Amino acid sequence: MFDETVLEARARAVMPVESAHDWWHVRRVWRLAQRIARTEPSADRCVLQIAVFFHDVMPKRAEGGHALVSAAWLADLLTPLDVAADVLERAADAINTHSFSRGLPPTSLEGAILQDADRLDAMGAIGIARCFAYGGAHGRPLYDPDDPTNSVQHFYDKLLRLRDGMHTAEGRRLAEERHAFMEQFLQQFWREWGQEQEEKKT
Ligand code: NI
Repeated sequence: MFDETVLEARARAVMPVESAHDWWHVRRVWRLAQRIARTEPSADRCVLQIAVFFHDVMPKRAEGGHALVSAAWLADLLTPLDVAADVLERAADAINTHSFSRGLPPTSLEGAILQDADRLDAMGAIGIARCFAYGGAHGRPLYDPDDPTNSVQHFYDKLLRLRDGMHTAEGRRLAEERHAFMEQFLQQFWREWGQEQEEKKT
C-alpha cells in the first residue's frame, strides 16, 4: 500500500471545509474499509486505499458542479507517487460509482467496499451527528412538518435505507447496530417532540 502520510497531505490539501465531509470522515471510512477488506481477501488494498482517500474530493467542472474523477486527475493529484495506471483507473471507477445520489451499483469489489464503508459512516451516532451538522450548515430546520428539507426527514429519505443496500457481508453486519441506534434515536426524538409516530412524515 501507499505511504499514508503522503496520501493524507494530498487529500487534506483539496478536502472541502465542511464538518460532515472533513478529513476525519475519510479517516473513519478508511478504518471501516480496512475492517471490511479483512473479510474480503481478494480486494486490492492499493485500489481501495486511493479510492477511500480521494472519494470526497471531486474535481469541479468549469461550469460549476462536480465532474467525474479521472485516472489522469488522480495521477496529477498524486504526483510524485508512482501509482500504476490500472490502479488509478480502478480507483477512479470506485469513486465515480460510490455516491448514493448517483444510485449506481458498484462495478468492483473495491467499489462495493468503499460504498459500504462510506454509508456506514452516515449511520449510527456519527451518522446522526453528521446529518444535523450538514443540515445546520445548509440552513435547514432540525424538524419542521411544513418543510420537507428538515434534517429528520433525511433519516426516512436516506439514512434508514442504507442498511438494506449493503453489498458485503461485513458491511451488513456492521450496519445492524448503527441502524438500530438510529431507530432508537428517532423514537426518543418523537417522544420528546410530543408527536405520535403515525403523524410524522414517512
Ligand atoms: Ni464520503
